[in-house]
Amino acid sequence: MKAWLLREKTGLGALECAEVAVPEPAAGEVLVRVRFAALNPADYYLAENRYPANPPMPHVLGRDGVGVVERTGAGRFAPGDLVTILRGGTGVSRAGTLAEYVVVPEAELVPKPADWSDEEAAGAALALLTAHQALTQWGPLAPGATVVVSGATGGVGVASIQLGRAMGCRMVGLSRSAEKAARLRELGAELVLDPNDAELVEKMKDFAGRERVALVVDNVAGTLFPKLVAMLGTLGAISCVGRLAGPVPDFNTGTLFFRRNRIGGVSAGAYSAAEAQATWDASLALLRASGARPVVDGVFDFSDVQAAFARLKQGPMGKVLVRVGA
Ligand SMILES: NC(=O)c1ccc[n+]([C@@H]2O[C@H](COP(=O)([O-])OP(=O)(O)OC[C@H]3O[C@@H](n4cnc5c(N)ncnc54)[C@H](OP(=O)(O)O)[C@@H]3O)[C@@H](O)[C@H]2O)c1
Repeated sequence: MKAWLLREKTGLGALECAEVAVPEPAAGEVLVRVRFAALNPADYYLAENRYPANPPMPHVLGRDGVGVVERTGAGRFAPGDLVTILRGGTGVSRAGTLAEYVVVPEAELVPKPADWSDEEAAGAALALLTAHQALTQWGPLAPGATVVVSGATGGVGVASIQLGRAMGCRMVGLSRSAEKAARLRELGAELVLDPNDAELVEKMKDFAGRERVALVVDNVAGTLFPKLVAMLGTLGAISCVGRLAGPVPDFNTGTLFFRRNRIGGVSAGAYSAAEAQATWDASLALLRASGARPVVDGVFDFSDVQAAFARLKQGPMGKVLVRVGA
């Protein structure tokens, strides 16, 4: 089979398309013929040695994907079933989806949602599981609570806007792109602001009113972070998902005192297999109830993996996919 092999953790330049043996599923595992893989920033972080994972080399990147069951032992799936990969070790501690076949533990697979296209299903899992945890980890959000999402056009950002809206929140997206802002409004953001707007905090306070912001889902960090804290209301919280703009310089913990603000990390990797399945089911129910569907930025050919990663780094609108096989 063809696979993109990462030979060493020196960057995406170390990726090479090679012919390798089809992997053998062990007991409790399923051999999946990959149709579409979806990219995540953690893929290039791993390639650039900026991610806490040490898989055997050469490694195959790719955590998300959709495919057809080729071979399986006794269990929930049969050959020919269409499946989606949930969060697990795939693409992190074991070979991932940038290959024609991938072996996945059965507990980390779900049936592909029948009402979604293969493309829609391919990139939904990690983004939805992450967004769901970010939105719910502080307890239920009051109806009409204002929730701000930074990096709102990315995989996690779009999923957060869609799930938060389905939960009855007033969603605000932050995006550096005026063009993508229009799309975010179509997807349910009541307001979209540029994170670099000098009046960002004032505009947020005007929008949210006396209660101010209940929750921020932060994918960006960096110099934006203190401004996100400044938007929060009493007991308002920030779910730290990513830090695409790097570390937060000179953070003053005193800014948290008076409104008793809370900051907490999000880890999709912390879900057990059963929790991941339950969260997937809950996320699907929310999306269906609100009529939302996963958003695909674009689909690249298997030979164009470098272009697909370049698009992801540039800033997508939804998920970046790679077409692997039929
Ligand atoms: N904690 C977890 O379990 C977990 C799980 C999944 C992902 N993550 C992390 O969460 C972050 C978001 O993931 P994702 O898949 O949504 O990423 P993504 O698809 O690459 O999208 C991120 C969005 O953030 C904006 N952005 C990118 N670089 C930026 C910068 N330097 N400053 C400000 N905005 C920037 C871009 O939006 P605009 O161009 O519209 O501004 C982009 O569309 C990543 O750091 C990822 O590693 C964490």
